[in-house]
Amino acid sequence: MDKPYLEAQDDGLLMRPMKDWAAEKLDYLERYLDMFTTAMRNKKWRALNYIDLFAGPGKCQHENNNNVQLGSPLLALTRKKAFDHYFFIDLDPDNIQALQQRCSQSPYADRIQYFRKDCNEAVHCITEEIQRINKRYIEDLWPCLNLAFLDPEGLELDWETVETLAQLRTDLVIHYSQMGLQRYMPIAIEDPNETSIDRFFGCRDWRNIYKQSQDNSRAYGELLNLYQRNLYNLGYKGKDEVGRLPLMRNTKNAPLYYLVYASKSDLGKKFWHEVTKRNVYGQQRLF
Ligand SMILES: C[S@@+](CC[C@H](N)C(=O)[O-])C[C@H]1O[C@@H](n2cnc3c(N)ncnc32)[C@H](O)[C@@H]1O
Repeated sequence: MDKPYLEAQDDGLLMRPMKDWAAEKLDYLERYLDMFTTAMRNKKWRALNYIDLFAGPGKCQHENNNNVQLGSPLLALTRKKAFDHYFFIDLDPDNIQALQQRCSQSPYADRIQYFRKDCNEAVHCITEEIQRINKRYIEDLWPCLNLAFLDPEGLELDWETVETLAQLRTDLVIHYSQMGLQRYMPIAIEDPNETSIDRFFGCRDWRNIYKQSQDNSRAYGELLNLYQRNLYNLGYKGKDEVGRLPLMRNTKNAPLYYLVYASKSDLGKKFWHEVTKRNVYGQQRLF
């Protein structure tokens, strides 16, 4: 009998330990994927592509109750309406191996490309591939529409990578790690060389903001504004949306990360607002 590789069940392969706040993020992603694929599947895009730069092994296990949940790449792969191409990237060979084994059971297995490398390198292979698809002339069809889920643990996502994706028609869902910044900023500020925070923001402006702000909470708000402004400068809508972002907190109510959404279309923004109106516990959010 087939193993339940594509079901939210233990299949004996590697899983990622997960806390509640990750479940919340995946819930937003799942509902957004449904809305996005349902609305966009039959439009005139040359192809619909899903890009997961920090894919993980494909399944997660709750630390408190051992419940199993599909991780982001399997959520994308198991929607009712499929993408044309899937790009799954992870630095960890064990994750990629488990993910490949799981995905081999999908009817869309031949649509997947795996990259076992740093996503900040892999992004160039992916965008070249998509540009190749865009170049083929096909009457009446629009260039590819891409959705990228960028879910690092900390500050591993370079701004240059976001810029590279933004050269294509790519909607973004980004895990913006407030916790990562909070932990590393006091160290990085003392380092005159390029740090992962400089690469994360794609500039050194964060240093002045951090130094000049009187209290940390103000600094973090302004830094998020900086990130949103940088997205806006790439052509994404909604630099005024900071207050609307889902902010994930831990059980002690400390802020962990924001889920930043970026789209060049009003419809994309509308979908995201619809999805984030309520959280995984069914609570309505006040915008
Ligand atoms: C937060 S987890 C992603 C979880 C995944 N989205 C899910 O739903 O299960 C981050 C993943 O990124 C991988 N990773 C860390 N640094 C990376 C990098 N520079 N490039 C690609 N993958 C990386 C880790 O191995 C880990 O699996």
